[in-house]
Amino acid sequence: MGSFVLHGNIIDSESPERLRVAADSYLVCEEGRCTGVFSALPERFSGLPLTDFGDRLILPGMTDLHLHAPQFAFRGLGMDLELLDWLNARTFPEEAKYADLSYAALAYGQFVDCLRRSATTRAVVFGTVHPAATTLLMELLEASGLVSYVGKVNMDRDCPEALREADAAASLAATEQWLASARFAHTKPILTPRFVPSCSDALLQGLGELAARRGLPVQSHLSENLGEIALVQSLCPQTDFYAEAYDRCGLLSQPCIMAHCVHCPPEEQDLLQARGVFIAHSPLSNSNLSSGIAPVSAYLARGLRVGLGSDLAAGETENLFRVMAEAIRVSKLRWRLLDDTTAPLTVAQAFYLATRGGGAFFGEVGCFEPGFALDAVVLDDSALVHPQELTPIERLERCIYLADERHIAAKYVAGTRLF
Ligand code: GUN
Ligand code: FE
Repeated sequence: MGSFVLHGNIIDSESPERLRVAADSYLVCEEGRCTGVFSALPERFSGLPLTDFGDRLILPGMTDLHLHAPQFAFRGLGMDLELLDWLNARTFPEEAKYADLSYAALAYGQFVDCLRRSATTRAVVFGTVHPAATTLLMELLEASGLVSYVGKVNMDRDCPEALREADAAASLAATEQWLASARFAHTKPILTPRFVPSCSDALLQGLGELAARRGLPVQSHLSENLGEIALVQSLCPQTDFYAEAYDRCGLLSQPCIMAHCVHCPPEEQDLLQARGVFIAHSPLSNSNLSSGIAPVSAYLARGLRVGLGSDLAAGETENLFRVMAEAIRVSKLRWRLLDDTTAPLTVAQAFYLATRGGGAFFGEVGCFEPGFALDAVVLDDSALVHPQELTPIERLERCIYLADERHIAAKYVAGTRLF
């Protein structure tokens, strides 16, 4: 964790509506945290080591609020199905393989290498039901230099025998066993009931108690697909809407991420707002599985906390540039075809979601204001050839549509350079 100065074209988000540009400027980092951005380097920092990135773009690192590590192995496959059929046909058979630690080591090694090279500096990750494989995933993430939360998945119903935990008590015991081994500096545990259809009432209740007792955060899926929502209504007839099934067990009362939130009725949105829940907007996944399009600009306008999720492998890539572009694109289709009262997302809003929006789950993360963690990606967009002068903002916009890991020249997480 260092103290240093970076020079380049520095861009971050002031708010969902406003990008902030400091062309040809200096970003000062002291002990892993931002001190400030300066157009001329103040004398008092002249003793710090300086890395000159010239004309390159320096952006905040990005946060992926929702992805499934075991699903990396089948990214790009099986997209002709909707959620519940996709889970049975593709996801559950693949996740069952992580009972085998040698398969887990191979597949998770590939996944972590890929994530390390991407623009993602922080991630909130689903593992599988297996405690040992999930701890192995955490070891690999810890060694990568990324900062993450990782969850051992809980499932005690409605899935194949190979993945089903015997009952709530067995699932909770396996979770305690995993928690005892999940002790890392930058890779923290997060409780992970897969979603209501996979978890008995007793299991949700037990996880809510465990979260409160140990002060643990929680992640799950919410209101992603219409068939899923109908199934939850039939499983929980006494609830008025899906999120109540989590809330009645206290699962929304800890720091919490709910993935998707495509089809949330107004009362559900009210509850998420009252509990301060983070929504992981996952537009690639929502397109691929024909789930729908979440009204994200309306969520931002009413003050809900929102970030982006790649949702690997329902989303086919970990590349958050692609996720930003898809978020913008589908919001335009939603506006045009479904609801012209909810404005399309802007480039500035999509960038905010990928940086400050999701970063807030980790605390002061996602911009270059004083005190924020120094997470940064340095982009070399010179290979994205063009015949004209572009402003830094125009270059950022092009990168959102065109960039991938090949354009990342350097990456810093909490003041440590990864490459
Ligand atoms: N809902 C429950 N499990 C999953 C999953 O693995 N992916 C997605 N997209 N939705 C889910
Ligand atoms: Fe998911």
